[in-house]
Amino acid sequence: MQNIHSLLAAHNDHIAKTTGLYPSFFIRTYGCQMNSRDSEMLAGLLAQLGYRAAESLETADLAVFNTCCVRESAENRIFGHLSRLRHTKETKRPDMLIAVGGCMSQQAEIAEKIAQSHPYINIVFGTANRHRLPEFLWQAIQSGKQVIDITEDDNFPELDTVPVTTRDYPHKAGVNIMYGCDNYCSYCIVPYVRGRERSRPAADILREIEALAADGVREIMLLGQNVNSYGKGLARTNVGDLGHSHTNDIYDFPSLLRRVNQIPGLLRIRFMTSHPKDFSDDLISAVRDSDKVCKSVHLPLQSGSTKVLKDMNRMYTQAEYLSLASRLKSAGIGLSTDIIVGYPGETEEDFEATLEVARQVRFLGAFTFIYSKRSGTPAATRKDLVPRNISAQRFQRLTDTIYPILLEINQAKVGSTLPVMVEEAGGTAVKGRTDDNTLVHFEAEDGRFQPGQVVPVSITLAKSFYICGEVV
Ligand code: SAH
Ligand code: SF4
Ligand code: F3S
Repeated sequence: MQNIHSLLAAHNDHIAKTTGLYPSFFIRTYGCQMNSRDSEMLAGLLAQLGYRAAESLETADLAVFNTCCVRESAENRIFGHLSRLRHTKETKRPDMLIAVGGCMSQQAEIAEKIAQSHPYINIVFGTANRHRLPEFLWQAIQSGKQVIDITEDDNFPELDTVPVTTRDYPHKAGVNIMYGCDNYCSYCIVPYVRGRERSRPAADILREIEALAADGVREIMLLGQNVNSYGKGLARTNVGDLGHSHTNDIYDFPSLLRRVNQIPGLLRIRFMTSHPKDFSDDLISAVRDSDKVCKSVHLPLQSGSTKVLKDMNRMYTQAEYLSLASRLKSAGIGLSTDIIVGYPGETEEDFEATLEVARQVRFLGAFTFIYSKRSGTPAATRKDLVPRNISAQRFQRLTDTIYPILLEINQAKVGSTLPVMVEEAGGTAVKGRTDDNTLVHFEAEDGRFQPGQVVPVSITLAKSFYICGEVV
């Protein structure tokens, strides 16, 4: 492997000597934070091999698509973008290399489709062998042929050791605490494209976060498809302490959270995603009592109907979700959520139950989706589909219920002074986020604030999706 890395690096050095420039790369990322983090690591890997960052996909020598397939619309969009890049490649940039990786390409039928009808794509790689991209690049460069490899690699987390040289933000970063998912919600393709659930040893996670904090990162997002089940399967004897001082006695999420809370330099800790079935009272206490852990959690509801939840294999009832939500709220913790409408067999009554939960819980934010059939999942075999127009109407009614509540929640902030972490400060318009993740706009003299700083802001105006204020 190292050998291929050296060969590719030498190849790039040679290009730089003859043309005056190292070859450039651009990564287009789709989907969730997992993919964003993977892209940061892929960028680190490519930078180590001499590649420099390009301004855009169109101008890159190497264009990488890190794809998502959670809904059909995501896949369609990616194929749309690919065909546009095909045009650029065929008319202007015949030497450009195009690589497609991530969740969409991990599906065998998509890899097959690309092999059959997308010859302009040079490389297809998956989620579990993403760290082998340099090897595939070398093969593609040497052979001039399409390289398709989506084999799952046991050494998969290897990429975690790649130094991230280009993080998306200076002040915040995601850190994987686990990979994959074992929940098999009936509608969801993630377990098939991200593999079995496996947790990273705490020592590795803590070391990564300490390095990020030392590098100026102030907000950490702990990432996993179901963070509450962190530690499951981490053998107590098998947690290799790689010669540093951390104790390796952390085997569950509340303990991990309490330990991360002690890392100096961090100001905020978030995590996603939590599964309601695994949200213990100990975790509620850990969130409540850890001063840096934000007091809002993302807790996907998916449906408010106990019947639909059972069909979805979610393992909780409406009553259990409501009880958890009220325990969280009593501990001063707000909730945001994900909701799917139009799951097969969803009746008007089922949908009303979802609206009822939304009204009772009063979510701080919600990602709402119309059910999308994913082949290979259990739900894909169902024949009792909800007609598209009904799903669309329900979607509208759901947002019509949720958005006015968001506005009310934000209006209640007017007049208060909230600590806001600066996210973007270009010019005088500053954007930041409150502890509960509400977007805040305010004005300040150019250059006064940097991303990662926490500033007290007096809130003067509320909209459904953001609030505005003035620095105190
Ligand atoms: N692990 C996370 C979610 C990952 S996918 C969790 O358990 O919540 C993000 C969201 O996409 C899901 O919460 C769900 O609301 C939505 N989603 C997943 N599969 C979908 C499908 N087939 N159709 C519509 N929405 C879907
Ligand atoms: Fe998909 Fe369910 Fe796993 Fe989330 S918990 S990734 S929705 S299978
Ligand atoms: Fe999409 Fe894969 Fe994330 S399917 S939502 S990028 S885990």
